[in-house]
Amino acid sequence: MNIQSADGTYAVEFVSTQSQLLDRLGGLNDAFLILDRHVGELYPWLAAPFPADRVLLVDATEDEKTLAGVERVCLFLQQNGASRKSRLIVAGGGILQDIGTFCAHIFYRGIPYVYVPTTLLSMADSCIGAKCAVNLGAYKNQLGFFQSPEAVVQWPGFLATLDADDVRSGYGEILKLSIVGGKDRFAEFRAHIDRHGFAIDRVEPMIRLALEVKKPIIEEDEFDRGVRKTLNYGHTFGHALESVTDHEVPHGLAVAWGVDLANFVARSLGRWSDADFDEVHDIVAQRFAIAPVKQIDALSLVGAMAKDKKAAGSTVQTILPNRDWKLEVVPQQLGGALEHIVSEYVTARTLA
Ligand SMILES: NC(=O)c1ccc[n+]([C@@H]2O[C@H](COP(=O)([O-])OP(=O)(O)OC[C@H]3O[C@@H](n4cnc5c(N)ncnc54)[C@H](O)[C@@H]3O)[C@@H](O)[C@H]2O)c1
Ligand SMILES: [Zn+2]
Repeated sequence: MNIQSADGTYAVEFVSTQSQLLDRLGGLNDAFLILDRHVGELYPWLAAPFPADRVLLVDATEDEKTLAGVERVCLFLQQNGASRKSRLIVAGGGILQDIGTFCAHIFYRGIPYVYVPTTLLSMADSCIGAKCAVNLGAYKNQLGFFQSPEAVVQWPGFLATLDADDVRSGYGEILKLSIVGGKDRFAEFRAHIDRHGFAIDRVEPMIRLALEVKKPIIEEDEFDRGVRKTLNYGHTFGHALESVTDHEVPHGLAVAWGVDLANFVARSLGRWSDADFDEVHDIVAQRFAIAPVKQIDALSLVGAMAKDKKAAGSTVQTILPNRDWKLEVVPQQLGGALEHIVSEYVTARTLA
C-alpha cells in the first residue's frame, strides 16, 4: 500500500517472517535503531544485526515522550557518530513512533527514517497520517508537526506478545475506522469480530481494513483542515473519558466508548436511527467493557471536553454520524442540552 504525502509517497510494506523483516532492515545503509525497550527484550534478534553503539533502547512511557526524551535520543546519535546521511529505524508502538519521528525530523534538520510498528494501534492506525507530537508539561501531544517516514514495515508477528488491553485498545481504533468507512465496512468488521473475536493471529484483514479507510482521508487532507477532522470521531468524548479516569482507560477503549456516546448524541439529535445505535452499542458493550476505578459523572465529562484542545470558547466540535453513515463536524454548545444528553447516557448505560 502506497501513501501519498507532502513529504513524498511512502509504502506500507507487509512482511510475513522474521527473516524477511531482518533482510529489509539489514538492507538500510548507515542505520541507527531506536527500539522500545520492552520489545527489545522480547525480540532480541531484532537488534542483533546492529553494532551495539547503533542501538538505543527507549522506555515506552509518556515521560519519555517529551523534549527531554527526544534530546536523549539526539545526544545518543550525536555521540555515536550519526551524520546527516544516516537514517533511523524506529521500532515500537505509538510512543516510540512519536519520539523517533520527532528526532528524525530535527536531527541535522532532518534525516530519513523507517518505522516498524509493534502494537495493534500503531499498525492499524497511527503508522500512516504523518502526525507526530510529544507532551509538554501536564498536557499530552502539545508539540508536534506533520512528518512522514521513508517507509513503514509491518510484521504482524510482534502482536503475539501484546497485552490483552493493548489488543482491545487497537481494536477500538479499528472499530472507529470501520464506521468512518461506512455501513459496509462496519458490517465487515462486525462479521470478523463475530467469527474470530479479538484473536490476534486473525487480525491482519482488520489492519488492512483500517488502513484502507484511513488512506484516502489523509491523502485528501493530510494537514487536518477538513475531512480528516472526521477521524476524531469518538475522540472528543474519548479524551474526556481518559481524562476523568486519570488515563486508567487505554486510549482505544476510551475511543470505542467515545464512539458509542457520539452515536447516542447523534440519535438524541435525530441524526441516527435506534437500530444503528443498538448495533454498534452491542459490540461496544460486549467487547470493550471497562471497569474505571472512579465513578463517572456527566458534569466532569463535559467539563473535561471543555478543556480539550479542540474546544473553542463555549463550543466543542463533535463528530457525529448521519443516517447515511457519513460523519460530520457538528459544533455544540457546551453545557445545557449536551450535558443533559451526556447525563442521560451516563445514567442509562453503565460504562462498565
Ligand atoms: N502519531 C500519531 O499519529 C499517534 C496516533 C495515535 C496515538 N499516538 C500516541 O501513541 C501512544 C500510544 O501508542 P500505542 O498504544 O501504540 O502504545 P505504546 O507505544 O504506548 O505501547 C504500549 C505498551 O506496549 C508495549 N509494547 C509495544 N509493542 C509490544 C509488543 N509487540 N509486545 C508486547 N508489548 C509491546 C510497550 O512497551 C508499552 O508498554 C500515545 O502516546 C499516543 O499519543 C500517536
Ligand atoms: Zn486515537
